[in-house]
Parts: sequence; C-alpha cells; structure tokens
Amino acid sequence: MAIYYQHEERLFSLHTEHSTYQMKVDDLGYLLHLYYGAKITGNMDYLLTYYDRGFSGNPYDAGGDKTYSLDVLPQEYPAMGTGDYRNSALIIRNSDESECCCLHYVSHKIENGKYSLKGLPAVYASDEEAQTLEILLEDSVSNVQVKLLYGVLEKEDIITRSAIISNHGNGSIVVEKAASACLDFVTGDYDVLSFWGRHTMERNLQRRAIEHGSYSIGSRRGASSHQYNPAVILAQRDTTENYGKCYGMVFVYSGNFLFEAEKDQYNQTRVIMGLHNELFNYPLEQGENLVIPETILGFTEQGLAKLSMQFHRCIREHICRGRFQYQTRPVLINSWEAAYFDFNGETICNLAKDAAELGIDMVVMDDGWFGKRDDDNSGLGDWQVNEQKLGCTLGEMIEKINVLGVKFGIWIEPEMVSEDSSLYREHPEWALRIPSRKPVLARNQLVLDFSREDVRNYIFDSICGVLDQGNIEYIKWDMNRSLADIYSMENSQGKVIYDYVLGVYDFLEKLLQRYPDILIEGCSGGGGRFDAGMMYYTPQIWCSDNTDALDRIRIQYGTSFLYPVSTMASHVSAVPNHQTGRRVSLHTRGVVAMGGIFGYELDPKTITKEEREEIKEQIVQYKKYEELIRKGYYYRLSNPYEDLYAAWMFTSENGDRALLNVVILENHSNMAVNYVKLKGLKPDAIYEDTGSGKKYYGSALMEAGIPMPIEKEEYSAYQMELISVSNEPGDCLRRGFD
Ligand code: GLA
Repeated sequence: MAIYYQHEERLFSLHTEHSTYQMKVDDLGYLLHLYYGAKITGNMDYLLTYYDRGFSGNPYDAGGDKTYSLDVLPQEYPAMGTGDYRNSALIIRNSDESECCCLHYVSHKIENGKYSLKGLPAVYASDEEAQTLEILLEDSVSNVQVKLLYGVLEKEDIITRSAIISNHGNGSIVVEKAASACLDFVTGDYDVLSFWGRHTMERNLQRRAIEHGSYSIGSRRGASSHQYNPAVILAQRDTTENYGKCYGMVFVYSGNFLFEAEKDQYNQTRVIMGLHNELFNYPLEQGENLVIPETILGFTEQGLAKLSMQFHRCIREHICRGRFQYQTRPVLINSWEAAYFDFNGETICNLAKDAAELGIDMVVMDDGWFGKRDDDNSGLGDWQVNEQKLGCTLGEMIEKINVLGVKFGIWIEPEMVSEDSSLYREHPEWALRIPSRKPVLARNQLVLDFSREDVRNYIFDSICGVLDQGNIEYIKWDMNRSLADIYSMENSQGKVIYDYVLGVYDFLEKLLQRYPDILIEGCSGGGGRFDAGMMYYTPQIWCSDNTDALDRIRIQYGTSFLYPVSTMASHVSAVPNHQTGRRVSLHTRGVVAMGGIFGYELDPKTITKEEREEIKEQIVQYKKYEELIRKGYYYRLSNPYEDLYAAWMFTSENGDRALLNVVILENHSNMAVNYVKLKGLKPDAIYEDTGSGKKYYGSALMEAGIPMPIEKEEYSAYQMELISVSNEPGDCLRRGFD
C-alpha cells in the first residue's frame, strides 16, 4: 500500500520506497500541502504556522481569525480569488465574469492501479505497481469541481499529478489558467535546473537560484519547443550529481506549458507546472470538463544522478509503449543530410545498397517524396507519392530495397500545409489563420487546424494511403514550425491551442492502432517537441537537427537529466559538419552517436574506402553494446560545459558489464592528464577491459579513476567495455589506456 488516509486527522500520506508526500484537509475544509521529501512517518501538520500577517487576507469562514490566511499557508491546488496573492494553479472566470474559485474538500477515493487521462498521454502501471488517489474539491458558489489525481508508483519513487476541472454550475465558465502540479515548501533554498535552447542547440542546462519574485519558463509556440523543455529539476542549493535533495517535474504534454517558481514574502517556495495561460481560455458549458495534462514528480536525496535514473526508468517503463518499447531499434541511414531534396528512386536504392554492404538495417526516405516538393516551399499536405521523381511506384521501390535485406522507413509532416499545395488551394480554411490578416509564415508553410476532426481524418486517410503501398517499417513524424495565428474556422478560439495537441495525440493513437508494427520516431526540426507526451507514442525522437559531435555532447548531456537514452535518436553525419563546419573524426562521431539510438545521416558514396570499413566495424561495435546503451543505467561522468573532457557510461542492471565513453574536448600543449572516475560498478568486482585485456577493481576505477591518454589530435574519443570477471586480479594495472 502506498496511499494512506487517516480519517480523524483527514491526513493523506503518499509513500514511495524513499519518499513521502503529505497533505491534509484542515478544519475549514481547505486542502493544505504539508510535506514532500525523504520518507518520514507521522503527521507533519505541526509545520503549519499561524500569525497575523498584514495585507494577507483571511477567508470569511475563518470567523475573523486574522492568523489564518491562504496567502501564507502551503496549498495543494491554489486558485485565484481566495486571498492568496502568489502564483495560482487555477484561474476560473465564472458565468458572472468574476475570477474566483474557492475550493473545499468534498470526498476522496483510493484505488489500486494508475489512473489514465482521456485523450492525453499519461504514465501507465499495473494494479500491483501503482495506486491512485482522487480528491474531489468544489467551489460551493459556482459548483465548479476539481478532481485532483495522484498516481503513486512506489517502487519507482514516482508520484504523478493531474487535475480534471468540471463545470457543475448553471452557466458557462472559462478556465483561464490550469496546472497539474503545485508544490509549496515552507522552508528551504532551491535552485531550478531548466533546459533552454534553440533550433539545432536544444536542452542546454541552466541552473539558477529561486529568489524573491517569480521566475517562469514556458512555451507559447503550440509545441513544447526547442527553447524551453517542459521538464525541470528543483534542487537544494548544495545538491550535486552525487549528493543532495532534488525533485524532478516532467510535464507529459507536447504543447504550450508554463512552469513558475516563486519565493514569497516569508521565504516560502512555490513551484507550479501546467498549461500556459496565454492563448488559452477554455470555455466549459454545464456538464463539461477539462483534463489537465499530467506532471511526473520524483524525489531523491542522493543527487541528480539518482534522480535522472528514476525518470529514465519511469519514462522507459511507464510512458513508452508498444512493440518497440523494449525492442532493439534498427540502425538506419536517413536521406536528409545525404541528399536533402535532391534525390530520386535510384538515390534511395543506392543508399539501400550501401546500407546492405555496411550492415545498416534500414534506409529512411526523408522529406521530398510527395506532391510537388523539391524544396521547402511547396507540397506539404499533398500526401501522394511523386512516382515521377521516384521513377517507380513506392511499392516497387520498397521491394527493391527489401530484396537487399534492408528495411524501409519514410518521413511525414502531417500537421502542415504549404500555401503552394493542392490541399491549400482546395481548403484554405483548414489552416490556422486569422481571416482578416496575412498569416505568419515559417519555412513557407502553415499549420493545419488539427483541433478539427474532419481535417485530421482527411490527412489520416491520405497518409494511410501511402503507408499501405508497401512494407513500411518506420515513420519519422516531423513538425517544422511553431504555431501562430491561433484561430480556427470551426473551433472556439480559446480552445484551439489545447485541442490542437489533443488532435495530434488522437491522430498518433489511431496510427499506432492501425500500424502497431511500425516504429514511429518523433521529430520537430530535431528536438522541438522532445517531451514525455510524445514519448507515449514515439519511443524515440530525433534529438536535434544538429549532428555535430561536439554540440551533440552538450545536447545529449542536457537531455539525459530527465529523459532516457532509449528516446534519443543520434546519427553519425559527414564532415565538415553541415551545421557547424567542424571536422571531427569518424571514430569520435561514432562514440557520440552511440550515446543514443544510433544511425547515419550521410552519403556513403562521398567517403573513403577506409571510412566505409570503419563504419562496418562501428556498426558491429554498436550492435554489441546496443542493449546496454538502450536499457542500461546511464551515468554522467563529467560536465561538458566545465570539464576538458566529456564522459558518460552505461552499466548493466547487475553491474557486471559497463561501457565507458570519453571525448577530449580541449587539447593544450604539455597538458595535465585527465582522470575519469567511473560510477555504478561493483566495488569489489574485478573488471576486464575487453579491448586491452587489462583488469581493474571496480572500487579503483570509481575512487581513483582512469587516466586518459594525451594525444596530438583534436576531440579524440575512447570507448572501453568492462566485464566483471571472477578470477583474481593478477595483472591488475595501475596505468590507464595505452
Ligand atoms: C526537419 C528535420 C530534419 C529533416 C527536415 C526535412 O528539419 O528535423 O531531420 O527531416 O525537417 O525537411
């Protein structure tokens, strides 16, 4: 049992293996938050303090008690209009135009299993793995009800939160702001670790202190965005990789979001994760409800490394689904950086021939195979195969590829339409745009109104028409612009931004139901929609349009804090790199791409014979390590923003096998030696480096580290596989690689 309710004290305690979350219904019927942190026993309501605080209002039902104020008390789901002047989790505009919602406890329910959310992705778990707590709150004047949902995955040290807002009153209301999780801390100094970025440089780590005032990150782009990822860590000031208390908050949603962190007048901290309130005014008629996307919460007192592992497991085991959740993913070669739009059927078949020779499993035909699409100015929406360009039917081409023993995958961008397309000429009203204005263009394309079922159905049918033409085993689902002109010809405007995302989910769900054997890779100009919501449908996502190995090290480092390696697609591309112009050795590019789901993004015709041989070897190596990389424990061993080297490693669950990866980031004359300290090994075990045959104690590698060679080459990379061996150390060396 993970969820306990103490009737007399009206106390809820949610216990995971190492954490406790506690709240209570107080004498006035408000749901107050008491505690979230390391496991404790007992009633934490002694933490609540009551003083007469100037300019902090008192609810009428406090009976004139000036020491009772919701402006000061820690709350579970603070709503606007109650005398709490901090950030609100909920703002409701009532039918009388007032903005007030005063929620009191009504009832609760505890059940085995994990709740699911209608139309939205959410953590799933069996009845043995999880429990659900449902707390019903109500505003007795407007009859607005809020159902707070808590899922507790005891073994995973994970608690999920969501909310369902329903209108049980007579008039219509508007939800102006709604979050799924709020955490109030009466004490403590915290930092926020967030992941900011831009197209081709996503998820850079930023750590900043929560000071007085309010700090927020979010997206108004209709997608979760390259700019701010909907996942943050709240860490006590002294928390490091290996030490200290920290909380993760991952929003399971792929659209606009808002995360707010605030230190109040009494040094209390409030953090909120939910839907962005801008471009959002969700009307609810009598009897209607709105489901707020889930936030996954995790806590550990063992530092960031441990927190990352909790989230990796949770997302891999309880968000990702379907046939490919645990399955080896194909090593693929993608036509994008190999040919861009400049290809025909022969080009793709040649890529497949190269793939067969090199040991690559699959060829992916990227953008440019449909409608009139020889550049990015036209064709989107016209999902008909351009047989003239291919020189044959799609089915024939796939057959030729399959005969070589190579699988075939295809790129699509279902949410978009080009102005220059038959679809747009026929249905301009299907695009999101404000009738009286010229739309904002991006990549010369517009966004289809996916909040509309008729629009989705049309695109679904035309894409199925393509997928049914042959043995297609993989789809890359792209989304190459941010939304603007949030205006639907059919839907009510305040709903569009949310209903759009639910429309995307609905489409993806139908696609998965119809094609359960097709692997779908998510993409939005690389990692513009790299979030746990998409991972529910697409177990891997193109991490970034930046394939430069050095930049990728940082991108993958930032991504690793809350997302598992099994979700990060990563390819070896040509040099000089197309995004940065940098030259990095093929070996280093390979080692970096093996920090994710591996593949290629280059034209094998342009490389030397030696490089082809090296690629063959690279694929053999990757396949040897693949399971360890995809399923193993992942450890960050350095900070590539600060250290002269980047290092990360994987260990098997039982610690018997490990793979160390190191890239030297800076070379200097006569430089000092870099020692890399390993993690996650069994201290008393003896490990053999399968490359050199040398043996080391686990404790030695973890405590003293291993010296990296100094080479006169930029960005040299090292990979070392370690296997625990039972025999005595014998020749256990004190030297490092040589
Ligand atoms: C996006 C993707 C790329 C490629 C192009 C095609 O930018 O991230 O990988 O598919 O679109 O237009």
